[in-house]
Amino acid sequence: MLKIGVFGVGHLGKFHLNNWKEIPEVDIVGFYDPDDNTAAEVSSKYNLKRFDDADKLLKKIDAADIAAPTDHHYHLCEKAIKKGKHVFIEKPFANSMEEAHALVKLVKESNIKLQVGHVERFNPAFLAVKDLELNPMFIEVHRLAQFNPRGTEVSVILDLMIHDIDIILSIVKSDVKSISASGVAVMTETPDIANVRIEFHNGCVANLTSSRISMKKMRKIRLFQKDAYIGIDFLNKKSEVIKLKGNEIDDANVFTFDIETIKGKKSIAISNPPIPEVNAIKKELEAFKNAIEKNTRTIVSEIDGMMAMDVAHQILQKIGNNVITR
Ligand SMILES: NC(=O)c1ccc[n+]([C@@H]2O[C@H](COP(=O)([O-])OP(=O)(O)OC[C@H]3O[C@@H](n4cnc5c(N)ncnc54)[C@H](O)[C@@H]3O)[C@@H](O)[C@H]2O)c1
Repeated sequence: MLKIGVFGVGHLGKFHLNNWKEIPEVDIVGFYDPDDNTAAEVSSKYNLKRFDDADKLLKKIDAADIAAPTDHHYHLCEKAIKKGKHVFIEKPFANSMEEAHALVKLVKESNIKLQVGHVERFNPAFLAVKDLELNPMFIEVHRLAQFNPRGTEVSVILDLMIHDIDIILSIVKSDVKSISASGVAVMTETPDIANVRIEFHNGCVANLTSSRISMKKMRKIRLFQKDAYIGIDFLNKKSEVIKLKGNEIDDANVFTFDIETIKGKKSIAISNPPIPEVNAIKKELEAFKNAIEKNTRTIVSEIDGMMAMDVAHQILQKIGNNVITR
């Protein structure tokens, strides 16, 4: 039985509680949240013990699930690691690169597992294609959301774009060569909309647009490579792979058609790979539990969390030099 304590039971923390309840061999010992109203609601709805002190809860658990606002990630995480507790920490990993480096060092010196909540790695649309041979040379990304004050304590880069940065770093097996970026602070004090171009040493170019002030929602990544186009729709949980006929994906729904080229007729196959029926949050929490039990590397480790933050901070520095003023 894995003893869990949840730190921060706001919007996301409640989703975590719902999912932990469905995972076998988990004992939710209690939660810590300084907000009295939220705590009263959660205590009665989930019949869970509220701890009035984070240290008291840490003493009773094997693993801390931290879903507090980003500016509280570092001190909660530090406390948990120093007490030898495994940590699931929501994204972004920390508030600054100094904090991220310090946490990576603490994990290295300890014997614990840490996973960062880059939940899109467990999105069924991504799971459907992640094991294909992905070798994109050009990536187009759109993550557009309607305005919501939650999460605006950080820029759209650390709030939304960081999901795509993490996915791209997990796909492109090459280091970042250069970054250019532009962003605008419209509704808050930090960029709410941004466009970023990341060039990798292997020649791949990723063009990312993120907005939290859009009228419509969209979460799409399109990968273009020599032998395929791969479209991943994270919002609608659909994926599409277009290849020359003969290379289509096994077990997928396939539609084919011919086109004339100067070298004769080519047959194109559009495949819709089967989408696994999974709940991404439940799957990421189960993966964290598995990593603890089997003593394996977590799927989104502290190093992954730090690397995504490193790129995000380089982007913010570029935007700082290149901000469009209203
Ligand atoms: N993975 C995702 O897709 C995703 C989505 C939304 C939010 N998040 C992340 O989850 C975290 C929480 O976001 P949210 O939307 O649930 O925010 P929220 O404001 O709804 O909830 C945060 C809760 O944490 C509590 N809190 C404040 N200080 C605390 C402390 N020191 N210790 C414990 N609890 C504390 C607050 O009282 C509140 O109840 C943020 O880091 C955010 O970036 C991730």
